[in-house]
Amino acid sequence: MNMKDPINVGLLGCGTVGSGVADYLLGTGGEKAHIRLSRVAVADLSKARELHFEYITNDVNEVLEDPDIHIIVELIGGENPALKYIQRAFENGKSVVTANKAVVSRHMKELLEEARRRSVNFAFEASVAGSIPIIRVLRGLRGEKIRKVTGILNGTSNYVLSRMEEGMDFEHALRSAQLKGFAEAEHLLDTGGFDARDKLAIVASLISNTPVTPNQIYCEGITEVTPIDLDFASKYGTEEGDSGYAVKSLASAELVEEQLFLYVYPALIRKDHPLASVRNERNAVYIEGEYCGPQLVEGLGAGRRPTTSAVVSDLLRVADCLRQGISEDLPQLESNIRIGDIRKVTRRGYVRMNLRHVPGSLSEASRILAQHGFNIEDSLQRRRFRTQVNGETVIPDIVTVEPLSYEIVEEALEALGESDRVLGRPFFLRFES
Ligand SMILES: NC(=O)c1ccc[n+]([C@@H]2O[C@H](COP(=O)([O-])OP(=O)(O)OC[C@H]3O[C@@H](n4cnc5c(N)ncnc54)[C@H](OP(=O)(O)O)[C@@H]3O)[C@@H](O)[C@H]2O)c1
Repeated sequence: MNMKDPINVGLLGCGTVGSGVADYLLGTGGEKAHIRLSRVAVADLSKARELHFEYITNDVNEVLEDPDIHIIVELIGGENPALKYIQRAFENGKSVVTANKAVVSRHMKELLEEARRRSVNFAFEASVAGSIPIIRVLRGLRGEKIRKVTGILNGTSNYVLSRMEEGMDFEHALRSAQLKGFAEAEHLLDTGGFDARDKLAIVASLISNTPVTPNQIYCEGITEVTPIDLDFASKYGTEEGDSGYAVKSLASAELVEEQLFLYVYPALIRKDHPLASVRNERNAVYIEGEYCGPQLVEGLGAGRRPTTSAVVSDLLRVADCLRQGISEDLPQLESNIRIGDIRKVTRRGYVRMNLRHVPGSLSEASRILAQHGFNIEDSLQRRRFRTQVNGETVIPDIVTVEPLSYEIVEEALEALGESDRVLGRPFFLRFES
């Protein structure tokens, strides 16, 4: 093939991202790159669309079985039937570009092996952090011993926490995210941490060359975070000249002594850490390598245009490979690094609890904490966060404690929850080390 020979693309899905990719290919972008959009498959042909294109069908077979199509761009989303379509594309000798984190995070190894076996390409840059070329960055650091990758990988959660930093409660911040189009009505995929968990599985697989799936990752969302936590964080330590803290939903993969520790959870991170200033819907990934030192990549992690940017970048590269008759050096995932038990990892943190406003409540809570080996650093109450729980007025207490394993923390939280001096569920927030 000549570098100017046209490459034909079949697009599966023409929603938010698919329509962006279609616009790009039907405009000057496709013309310049000699990439032609041949066919588009959608679910519902009767839907009104801005796309003016004659080869649009609701039969994916017309796209997958077309012998003139070289590359399938899968932008349907969800695990099934997208997985089946990607496998079929490979069987038919076509390369695949996808943004589908649900599929890639659960089937990366088998899909890479299949692509390699069929000498086709498989590219999935858009499946993690939208426009940020994080997969290229991690592939570019292949010789590096990456110790830790910490990401802000869900724009919705980061947007919600940014609004809460300004004093909004979770419900209002979420409503604001929904009005801006950053959050779905069904928001738990984002705010529950599950979207970030899928993306972390992909990142962790690449840095460890080990197949990591989402169900191996500890996951906690931001739904329990309140404005009290954000207020406490921003002021904590500042009287002693410290920078204070931000609360961020962090997705992290850390290699410690040949074990991989993986988690998605909200945490306090020092304001002078580069991730603390990543606000609103933006995403960022902080990489710590033994030779390269720390590196930060930051940008827009979702949305039509940023995600189109990542898909198109993959598409152009895969098209170049096809024209040159080469297949890309796909990740191998042949290591077998053990996944560490995150519940045994110790972290400093604080307990926030609602104590009944009667004498002895604080000493009872302290007794329970001491019984579980908690060493209290300090404690505070802020009257302006006075609230009603089960019809009683309470002022939440925040008790900062020295490092403890989460296993112990869980037991203590349960014991506190069972005490008649504690109203509602106590909450633990960790300091990011
Ligand atoms: N949206 C973002 O900001 C973003 C960011 C990063 C990654 N992604 C990923 O990009 C992918 C696409 O997301 P999206 O937001 O563009 O989704 P979307 O707006 O819901 O669009 C999905 C498209 O797939 C079509 N479709 C659904 N089921 C189909 C089937 N069985 N056969 C053929 N077509 C089918 C739909 O057809 P109809 O149009 O007829 O309904 C629609 O055109 C997902 O994997 C997502 O995780 C999205």
